[in-house]
Amino acid sequence: MEDRGTYRGWPRVVAVVGAGTMGLGVAECFAAAGMGVRLVDATQDLTRRAKERLVQRARGHVRAGLLAEEAARRVEAVETKDGAEEAASGAELVFEAVPEDLGLKRDTLGACSGAAPPEAVVVSNTSSLPINRLSEFVEGPERFCGMHWFNPPEWTPGVEVIPARATSEKTIERVVEALRGIGKRPAVVGDGPGFVANRLQTALFLEAVRCVEEGLASPKEVDEVVRSCFGFRLPFFGPFQIADMAGLDVYQSVLGVLEEGLGDRFEAPEVLRKLVEQGRTGTKSGAGFLEYTEEERDRLLLERDRRYAALGGLLEELPPVSAGSEGPP
Ligand SMILES: NC(=O)c1ccc[n+]([C@@H]2O[C@H](COP(=O)([O-])OP(=O)(O)OC[C@H]3O[C@@H](n4cnc5c(N)ncnc54)[C@H](O)[C@@H]3O)[C@@H](O)[C@H]2O)c1
Repeated sequence: MEDRGTYRGWPRVVAVVGAGTMGLGVAECFAAAGMGVRLVDATQDLTRRAKERLVQRARGHVRAGLLAEEAARRVEAVETKDGAEEAASGAELVFEAVPEDLGLKRDTLGACSGAAPPEAVVVSNTSSLPINRLSEFVEGPERFCGMHWFNPPEWTPGVEVIPARATSEKTIERVVEALRGIGKRPAVVGDGPGFVANRLQTALFLEAVRCVEEGLASPKEVDEVVRSCFGFRLPFFGPFQIADMAGLDVYQSVLGVLEEGLGDRFEAPEVLRKLVEQGRTGTKSGAGFLEYTEEERDRLLLERDRRYAALGGLLEELPPVSAGSEGPP
């Protein structure tokens, strides 16, 4: 496994506060990339055990051919600290990943931002708590934002970066640049409930559960439909480009049927109706949510076909993932 080299930009020292599922994975990413990482959990004993797990995981990743030996040695060099303040003092970035509890986040963010140097950036990995609310707990809220990673953090490229009203542009620029520098794909999104990813994922999950409740399909069948029908496209395209390629007029007609059968939540949004009215029906008309020259459209469709064929081939090659067995409900 090739070592992708060490990251030499900002931040050089990161405090990871909360060393559970997410904190450990993010600590591995930062350390493997070459940042100095300080790890801390709720007690000295938990911190010591978390460090042991971190090293075991990194060793497992080396054995699986996922991590270079040199990178694993950098993970082994992660320091442990006795408390959040000690970890934050002298850090250039404080990454908070304690459990999703407002009181605990308040205490942790308050303590860390008080102890960190004034120019340090403080971020929270919260999945759902409003970033504006959390920013009230931070000393110097202009240097605070959400940095929402996805599980498993080591291998999921996307990270949502969520500014609070008080966050400075410089803070966002630094955070985005640092994430790109270690190979992640940050997207800056607004502070709405669930941000963007969890809102979309939850909408899908709710409809999936409804399909099961209504007896349309079993959980296993729903999973198969998602992964091998429309979900098959998602590594390459988001919902807007997929809709443009399908035809927005088609989407509008389908939504009419769904609305009739399933209610208002499927009503075609005004922006979609307007685009169709203007003849912007997607790639076939040269414009939908996005605009395409003829050449761009032809290239897009060809590249789409190449990618789908390549992914189909990869899925054939990989051994099947154990799906679990079906029980109630
Ligand atoms: N699990 C996920 O898939 C996921 C994904 C994205 C974001 N998140 C968010 O990340 C955060 C952490 O989630 P997780 O799944 O890693 O939780 P977790 O329970 O696995 O880990 C939290 C860790 O924080 C430690 N902790 C508790 N109090 C502490 C304190 N005062 N100081 C330091 N450490 C303390 C706990 O001992 C535990 O090890 C939450 O805000 C969660 O919403 C989770």
